Amino acid sequence: MKDEIILAIESSCDETAIAILKNGKEILVNTVNTQISEHQKFGGVYPELASRLHLENISKVVSYSLSLKGFDYKDITHVAVTIGPGLPGALQIGVMAAKTISEYLNVPLIAVHHLAGHIYANEFVEDFKYPLLALVASGGNSDIVYIDKPLNFKIIGETIDDAIGESLDKIARSLDLPYPGGVSIDKLTKDNFDNIKTITLPKVSLPGYDLSYSGLKSHVVRLVEEEKRKGTLSQEKVLAYAKSVEVAFVNQLLYKLEKASVEYKIKMIVVGGGVSANSYLRRKVYEIFDKNKVDILIPPLWCTTDNALMIAKVAHHLIKENKIAKIDISSYPNLQLDDTSIYN
Ligand code: KG4
Repeated sequence: MKDEIILAIESSCDETAIAILKNGKEILVNTVNTQISEHQKFGGVYPELASRLHLENISKVVSYSLSLKGFDYKDITHVAVTIGPGLPGALQIGVMAAKTISEYLNVPLIAVHHLAGHIYANEFVEDFKYPLLALVASGGNSDIVYIDKPLNFKIIGETIDDAIGESLDKIARSLDLPYPGGVSIDKLTKDNFDNIKTITLPKVSLPGYDLSYSGLKSHVVRLVEEEKRKGTLSQEKVLAYAKSVEVAFVNQLLYKLEKASVEYKIKMIVVGGGVSANSYLRRKVYEIFDKNKVDILIPPLWCTTDNALMIAKVAHHLIKENKIAKIDISSYPNLQLDDTSIYN
């Protein structure tokens, strides 16, 4: 049988990434060109700049990736691309490149949801056991998803306002920590976590499995601004705010996830998205869930952030189900995980 060789493109935010995956498992190429240092001076992702950098970099990243391992681009059997959600201009660059390559090579185009990618990144560690619950915690999303068979997503809880990652980033900015703020907060606290003092923060309580971060974020930013005005924001206080925010944010997520795991009879907990790199979250997941009752999958750090391998992995499943993108596919900045209208 002919090998399945997927070329995947990811450009939804501030990484231009290309991957080539053979038969769903064998990683031939994983190139990630990050723009983080360019956005740092703005304290966050500057969307116009992201689009321009994707445009400048994508051909270089594609040709560099194709030059690796000396394999022949004519062996590519499918082209996959992130079509949403993400920054509108950034997504368009990847989709345009993918459409052009798939037309040129005359191979099918596979449209992939970014968050499906973050979930299925875990399959580079272990195959999924269904039914499972996936926790997606990223810069733009905080979702609890029930999955009973491959790619069958049911969102049972989501943030009703801001995402966990963007809220961490905004708090970090008010603490004068560099972008990406979630990473800075983690770095600051992880080595001495237990010895850092905590500040009492209000508890968020919403019905069901929904989450909320906006109120907590505004509350903390207000406290920090007040400390700055009074000149009382010591390094010890910065540490205390950083730790308290991590604890409050992560505990809210995991409390809901634990509740959901009791209602849904699941075999596995899967964590994904940029915030899944957080040291406190990674430790806490193992503390809360009994490994003897439910398998826990947390991606290795290399695939917690945006990459194209995770997109190729989802494409591999879509190909098995013969879900090929429509010819007039576009980019969809607000695409829902359970939207299947994009396939033929
Ligand atoms: O999934 P991702 O790379 O991009 C998308 O949003 O799609 O997630 C980026 C988010 C940022 O908000 C960043 O601050 C956060 O993930 N993040 C972290 C850590 N690493 C990345 N947050 C907390 N702890 C980390 N170690």
